Amino acid sequence: MKENLPVTYTDHRLHIEDVSVAELVRSYGTPLYVYSASYFESRLDLYNRGKEGKEDSIQFCYGMKASSNLALLRLVASRGWGADIVSGGELFRCQKAGIDPKKIVFSGVGKTEEEIRYALESEIHLFSVESPSELRTISRIAAEMGKKAPVGIRINPDVDPKTHPYISTGLKENKFGIGHDQALEIYKEAASLPGIQIKAAGFHIGSQLLDFSSYEEAARRLLKLVHEIEAAGISIDEIDVGGGLGIDYLENHDLSQPLETPDPAAFVKQIWQWINESDANASGKKRKITFEPGRSVAGNSGFLITRVLYRKSNEDRQFFICDAAMNDLLRPSLYQAYHRVIPENQSRGSSFGDLVGPVCESGDFLARGRELPDFQEGDIAVLASAGAYGFIMGSNYNTRPRAAEVLVRGNEHSLIRKRETYDQLLENELL
Ligand SMILES: Cc1ncc(COP(=O)(O)O)c(C=O)c1O
Repeated sequence: MKENLPVTYTDHRLHIEDVSVAELVRSYGTPLYVYSASYFESRLDLYNRGKEGKEDSIQFCYGMKASSNLALLRLVASRGWGADIVSGGELFRCQKAGIDPKKIVFSGVGKTEEEIRYALESEIHLFSVESPSELRTISRIAAEMGKKAPVGIRINPDVDPKTHPYISTGLKENKFGIGHDQALEIYKEAASLPGIQIKAAGFHIGSQLLDFSSYEEAARRLLKLVHEIEAAGISIDEIDVGGGLGIDYLENHDLSQPLETPDPAAFVKQIWQWINESDANASGKKRKITFEPGRSVAGNSGFLITRVLYRKSNEDRQFFICDAAMNDLLRPSLYQAYHRVIPENQSRGSSFGDLVGPVCESGDFLARGRELPDFQEGDIAVLASAGAYGFIMGSNYNTRPRAAEVLVRGNEHSLIRKRETYDQLLENELL
């Protein structure tokens, strides 16, 4: 499908929606994360289109680890979505943003007793369980509280999603989920535990997947297993297919043209069809399907704006040193991720070099060994596709305050997270 990115040049100056980047920098400073509300909502709407006519059998739980500012979560809630969470902190955020706990799935390999208790008190929709020990712990706590915890087991389908090894999660060598061979035994044990109510089975095979076929393989393997589990007298009402749909990181994209991206609506319909086809033959049962998209909602809605402080050349290498660093956007350092660098001033030519930050690490780069805009000192650079796993993976490394966050809609903009102050950085330290 074709879609328009929320960036344009007017009189050679970059705008996000209808707000000039220069105005955003004047109002809030740099480094700065900016999100397009309209683009973010359009992605939620595209997913929602995929469930038209199947409202009762499909649910969306935003993979909020991708980007979880309260203002973004409000948009998520406004479209009827729930959330996929991985910590008590994320549950707390959901409650503050008005996300219905009945639409929350709690994933993750290391849920603490405290987090489990909190989620049970909050009456969330589902615990996605990742080990036998976790299952027993949940049962014990739920029984102590006089409750039955709704659970699904996350199965590791041993499918190669052909993505970066750090964001591949559905192979035997990854820490996630429970092996196929152990699954039936675990469901049998779950059925015997006093604090467990079995509801679902699921997988999440990885992130930034541009090819749907690995989902088909994972879904077919999971359903085969589900049929074996049901043959043992244990009913499963829901299939959770995780998140993972990828985005275009604009490497070869002409920004004046619409973007060609995988269509979330087509993706949802395709998965629904694969699951229902495989199921219809074997069980005839209509199961609810849960999707947990994160990156494909938030990724291209967000931008990191930074000022070029200095230019310098070491031998034949050209460096543009800017005021954003790996503590603001970790993805390039962590997985050599590509982010498109866009000049605020369209009239800049191009120059080969590195865009780097002030952090004291050679691994501190935002773009390395690439054709970049020929930035002059004081220019503004914009890193695109930074809405997912961007701000959220930020840190205070080198005692750097985290960036401010701003939401843009049409010609309006509002601060949704203040820039951290030096005092806040030291707030919890004791002398
Ligand atoms: C269980 C689970 N669900 C959903 C997601 C969101 O994935 P993505 O942002 O690739 O859509 C993740 C990401 O790691 C995950 O682990």
